[in-house]
Amino acid sequence: MPDFSSLLSLNAKNMKASAIREMLKFTQKPDIISFAGGLPSPDTFPVDDLKTAANAVFDQQWKKALNYGTTEGDNTLKEELLKFERDEGAKIEGKNLLIVSASQQGLDITAKIFLDPGDYVIAERPSYLGALQAIQSYCGKVLGVELTREQDGFDMDLLEKRFAELQKQGKKAKYIYIIPDFQNPGGYCWSLEKRKALLEFSYKNNLPIVEDSPYREIRFMGEPIPSIYLLDQEGANRGNVISLKTFSKILTPGARVGWIVADESLISKFVIAKQSMDLCTNVFAQCWLAEYMKTGKIHKVIEATQKIYCEKRNRMMDALEKYMPKNPDIQWTKPEGGLFLWLSLPKSIDTDKLLLTAVEKKVAFVAGSGFYFDNPEHNSMRINFSFPTTEQIDEGIKRLGEAIKDALQKV
Ligand SMILES: Cc1ncc(COP(=O)(O)O)c(C=O)c1O
Repeated sequence: MPDFSSLLSLNAKNMKASAIREMLKFTQKPDIISFAGGLPSPDTFPVDDLKTAANAVFDQQWKKALNYGTTEGDNTLKEELLKFERDEGAKIEGKNLLIVSASQQGLDITAKIFLDPGDYVIAERPSYLGALQAIQSYCGKVLGVELTREQDGFDMDLLEKRFAELQKQGKKAKYIYIIPDFQNPGGYCWSLEKRKALLEFSYKNNLPIVEDSPYREIRFMGEPIPSIYLLDQEGANRGNVISLKTFSKILTPGARVGWIVADESLISKFVIAKQSMDLCTNVFAQCWLAEYMKTGKIHKVIEATQKIYCEKRNRMMDALEKYMPKNPDIQWTKPEGGLFLWLSLPKSIDTDKLLLTAVEKKVAFVAGSGFYFDNPEHNSMRINFSFPTTEQIDEGIKRLGEAIKDALQKV
């Protein structure tokens, strides 16, 4: 076997395999109830309508769909996405929108255009692992900021303090990365007040905000809060926000299509960066989604998805109440949308170890430590409620409660 390790780039040496992806492999045994993945429920996929749309592409547009496309994205899909965004209130033109190979490419491309080795990104602690990996692969670092006890956004005083310390050390932050709507992994939602405060911080320090919003539309209770992108547009309108959107959680992740909305000066940089990544996003998938979007049925699919996930979330809340040991240090978030909740345990319990005993009891979760860029906390876990059935939710939480009870007795 050749050994080329000494030849690898600094970027490649910085790349770490995702602990979560590795873990998922062994939690996917058929008899294990897994709360570990982040998959949408297949029950939400409008399979017949998607099939009709795909057939229409083969019948009527195969010459275009089977060829290369432009890096900027298919114009028909762009028109549909502009309509979708304008329905939310955004005032945007084609020059503000770039189609990407789902949000993960948006995260990679953002890190690619902003980060030099050693540069910092300000992010929530904990945060989405795929974003942390993208930052790391460009030799970037993360200045993590915890949320307040109310879980409504950054502790702004702490942000100011950590940012001042970073500057004092002569280090540079390049952008702020947050998931304000039903965060992965926490399920938290930023309040209007905190969104506005972060925008002010971004203006004051001339730092862009990357607003990653795959779950925004999956709100199943409570009142919608304007996106930070919209707050900027309706206020100072300085164009500081880069909005990452995707079809993955509102229609199908298999399509691997998403879009970035940002100021045109940034979009043109993204286009150049994307050229060397994939030339263009899968053209067939773009034509297919454009055809589907023309039916106008996406809003109905989103409504149905909200309903399905709300039922599962409520079932999980009931099961947690019923099966979790009574202990003031056992707490969980109560998300009003999205796919996940965050369960915190007493500090004496290490969820990396707990996972091994949980798997013996045939239930799996993702240990929280994987969602920290550095200095991980070890007493929490992410639980997904979109993929398991309601029956699996009851039984799985029961098994998890037993695993936690056992662990508590051992400490
Ligand atoms: C917060 C967040 N951002 C981005 C992504 C990547 O999504 P996509 O399928 O659009 O690449 C995910 C996937 O779970 C996510 O949770």
